[in-house]
Amino acid sequence: MRRRARLTAAVSAACAAVLIAAVPSAATGGATGLRNGIRSGVGAYEPDPYFPLAGNPGYDVQHYDLDLDFTPATHALVAQATITARAEDDLPRFTLDYSGPAIERIQVDGRPAAFRQDGQELTVVPHDPLARGREFTVRVDYRGTPGPLDDPALGVYGWINTDDGAVALNEPDGARTWYPVNDDIRDKATYTFRITVPEGVTALANGERQSERRAAGRTTATWAMNRPMSSYLAMVAIGKFRVDRGTVGGIPDITAVDPAGDGNLAALQTGTAAAVAFGERHFGRYPFGSVGGIVDRIGVDYALETQSRPVYDGRPDELTMVHEIAHQWYGDSVTPTTWRDIWLNEGFATYAEWLWQEEHGGPTAAETFDRLYATPAGDPFWELRTADPGRDDIFDYEAVYLRGAMFLQELRRTLGDPAFFELLHTWAERHRYGSVATCDLRQDAERIAGRDLGPLFHTWLYTETKPALTALAPH
Ligand code: ARG
Ligand code: ZN
Repeated sequence: MRRRARLTAAVSAACAAVLIAAVPSAATGGATGLRNGIRSGVGAYEPDPYFPLAGNPGYDVQHYDLDLDFTPATHALVAQATITARAEDDLPRFTLDYSGPAIERIQVDGRPAAFRQDGQELTVVPHDPLARGREFTVRVDYRGTPGPLDDPALGVYGWINTDDGAVALNEPDGARTWYPVNDDIRDKATYTFRITVPEGVTALANGERQSERRAAGRTTATWAMNRPMSSYLAMVAIGKFRVDRGTVGGIPDITAVDPAGDGNLAALQTGTAAAVAFGERHFGRYPFGSVGGIVDRIGVDYALETQSRPVYDGRPDELTMVHEIAHQWYGDSVTPTTWRDIWLNEGFATYAEWLWQEEHGGPTAAETFDRLYATPAGDPFWELRTADPGRDDIFDYEAVYLRGAMFLQELRRTLGDPAFFELLHTWAERHRYGSVATCDLRQDAERIAGRDLGPLFHTWLYTETKPALTALAPH
């Protein structure tokens, strides 16, 4: 699901250069790209600049159906993944991203297909070449013991086994540790998860639970995410959980905590509800069909904004819940086109924390800005470009989270409160379920402000020096 039409329709000259590099489409004027031995005749496929091996040319995934049978005692997984996709080119073969347990067989449209694994690339050769425009299904059967990635710069992520189960936290490119995937941040798809676990164990995932069945001492829960979701936001959580179901503002709310941890179900419920209400007030209508949160003992030391239901490693404080819930609008629904623009996630979610504090007796966002702005020029705080920090620094707290939020505060001061808060709504509404770049934000801001904001965007997002404050015209 690429929603290319919407993206390109929204492009004006200012964004064109970025989008030509970012969107594999006719906009590239029929240029051909060769990747993994596959020629793309539709347009050059542009891999992500930070994760060039994640994502694959030639097709567009519509839906993932993941059937997962997991036994916590042994951490053994028996799985079938069925992917529904559309060929965007004639495909004698295609690739998926995969580095999970051993594959037993692959079928394309029900016929056995040849395949080869080479590092994290899985090449599939269907019995008959796929014609451009054709919708096809790939079924992959695999089994074994999945495990996480441990990256020197990004930490532990992907499929993470726990004492009593497992949690999948994919950001940024960990989805391939547990299912074959087109791990391109732009290729959003819907998901069905069918998770079978021993009785007494609970399985949760994104979205809404459709059914639960018991047979032969095992329980199968089916979960569905019916809104477009980028693969880095797909999640399952398996283990002993205390689960609570309620609603917040009419939205089903499913929260769960590991009873052996320090999580407090009531606090998770209250904090989530307050964060959703706050988000709906400032950012507009909540974008998904359900919400919630999961607290487990994982040992990664971060929370993740998994779509519709964030996962917390241990009991979250209020601000962490505000941060992860804000990501549902900024990151999950409105998603960067490339990982270079991760500040569009983290800057907005951090700014949401500042706004929350401002409204709850804490420092105002302007005061938080001032405190950080006192950091002297030349301090490493100002190093790295907020809108292009580099692959190893996508989670850099100062450059991406704090300076991203500082830019938004400076934008607020420049636009004034009414225009800035209109922008927060417009950004979430206009690009709902879409993929965006920094230039799209500039365009939306300039449309609302009625003037050029180029220098402001440039100095805050694309330089490594402490920006001078914008002189405001007196009014
Ligand atoms: N996006 C998460 C947040 O809201 C951080 C994820 C960190 N991931 C990692 N692999 N280190 O802050
Ligand atoms: Zn975040």
